[in-house]
Amino acid sequence: MKKQPVKILFVCLGNICRSPLAEAIFNKRILDLGLSDQLIADSCGTGSYHIGENPDPRTLAVAKTHGIPISHRCRQLHVNDFTGFDMILAMDESNKKNILLKGGEAFSRKVWLMRAFDPEGGEQVPDPYHGRESEFEEVYQILDRSVSGFIRYLKKEMLTDEPGSEG
Ligand code: 4NP
Repeated sequence: MKKQPVKILFVCLGNICRSPLAEAIFNKRILDLGLSDQLIADSCGTGSYHIGENPDPRTLAVAKTHGIPISHRCRQLHVNDFTGFDMILAMDESNKKNILLKGGEAFSRKVWLMRAFDPEGGEQVPDPYHGRESEFEEVYQILDRSVSGFIRYLKKEMLTDEPGSEG
């Protein structure tokens, strides 16, 4: 029987800068790796400021620079997300705190910090909203490394090899 895809939710505050970029990088990587039938990603924000909006123009620009297709409409985190997703990745501690306030401790095992998967370490994916363009490039570099580390984790811990396959 075919296994259900593993569902991943990337979460930040506004859902117009960091988490839609994380989702887009993740989707590009899994497409390139042929893993798109095993993984599904979405993103949302803990806040409600930008519901229905496209990503920030600076997010769109940095994604374009790196050849990452990006298409997302902002939405807010919903209680159903705690049952609908297998893993929830917060961009910073404040996001994580707000996610846990909404979902309750029962779901805490699903909630991770994005940079737990950054091979170079670090705690937060910094909020670039009030920053300069260069901060969006810095966020891109952090997310690029963290997404790669995260996919290595998923392949090892969450995705089962089909019989006869290698690696
Ligand atoms: P994000 O950045 O959480 O990475 O999407 C922000 C976007 C908007 C706001 C804050 C952070 N805001 O306050 O409107």
